[in-house]
Amino acid sequence: KKISLSIDHIDKGDYEHFMLKEIHEQPVTIQDTFRGRISMDESKIFLGGILDVMPQLIKARRIIIVACGTSWHAGLVGEYLFEQYARIPVEVEYASEFRYRDPILEKDDLVIAISQSGETADTLAAIRKVRETDATILGICNVAGSSISRETDAGVYTHAGIEIGVASTKAFTSQITVLTMMALLLGSKRQALSASEYKHLIKELIQVPKKIEEILKEEHKIAEIAAVYKDVSNALYMGRGLLFPVALEGALKLKEISYIHAEGYPAAEMKHGPIALIDENMPVLALAANDESYEKMVSNIQEVKARKGKVIAVVTKGDKIIRKMADHIIEIPDCHEAVSPLLAVIPLQILSYHIALMRGCNVDQPRNLAKSVTVE
Ligand code: G6P
Repeated sequence: KKISLSIDHIDKGDYEHFMLKEIHEQPVTIQDTFRGRISMDESKIFLGGILDVMPQLIKARRIIIVACGTSWHAGLVGEYLFEQYARIPVEVEYASEFRYRDPILEKDDLVIAISQSGETADTLAAIRKVRETDATILGICNVAGSSISRETDAGVYTHAGIEIGVASTKAFTSQITVLTMMALLLGSKRQALSASEYKHLIKELIQVPKKIEEILKEEHKIAEIAAVYKDVSNALYMGRGLLFPVALEGALKLKEISYIHAEGYPAAEMKHGPIALIDENMPVLALAANDESYEKMVSNIQEVKARKGKVIAVVTKGDKIIRKMADHIIEIPDCHEAVSPLLAVIPLQILSYHIALMRGCNVDQPRNLAKSVTVE
């Protein structure tokens, strides 16, 4: 018997919208995603779903990630993680483009399809194309038993629980959690990471849920910033390294639910175009965690301020330099660079939510968008 699940039958709890509920669930959903997959002594990661294909993963020549939308942004984060911690070359493809190309795939290639729903038509078509080759194909899906999870050789579920808000939030952070675990596990197996680095990074991941709770406590401050910018028509987001994909995701969240035109850029690319757009009306979200690119971000923020742009900076708690330059700052707890996307995206989700709310938009079901795009 088919059970029909309508939005009205699912509980929003004390929250006004599913999106807000899902944003607040992230400390728990991230924990659910790594729970049972990390050894008691916190020194090893186990991913049962990919155990059978481990020999292929260990000798993988390269990884090709295929996905759409927010899942594609998670894929870009994955690219940095696999490259940095497992030393595997990675390409990230839009599934819709990949499916119509003539990709060169060989036995030692590993394809990872990322999909919350596991039903996105383009991603499914992309993996069917891969299945005609000798490459190994993994899925990272949230919905158990979904088409993509059934048609891949192996995979890892995200355990984010059902996501209702069309704009993906908790599925995104769970996907990144899985990608982080996979990158660290492969890094360790391929001896790209020492035992102590491996352990240290696992510890950083375990600390993420608590740190997200701290960010969630600052929601009222982010809502105040939202009130200042709710009527803008454009916004720019910039970040470097692991925070560049987060800039893309922040811009997507704003577009999706508030209908404000927003673009994400690698901060250094600003001078090749977007900087021409900056005037006293342009808000620029600058992601500047305490990482290797911090100094560079400081210069990028200076470039925006010199053109009178408004800077909203996401910085590490205790930051002193950017605090003096930015119009608004949002602090995130100190963390290792590897897990910074998981923290930096939270304020951006909250900001978009409050801006959309203040503009009277339908936050959970934005116009023209579907939760799962099962047709081409
Ligand atoms: C739609 C949704 C997005 C999602 C994308 C990919 O556009 O609105 O939130 O990121 O599809 O979906 P998937 O289920 O494959 O992750």
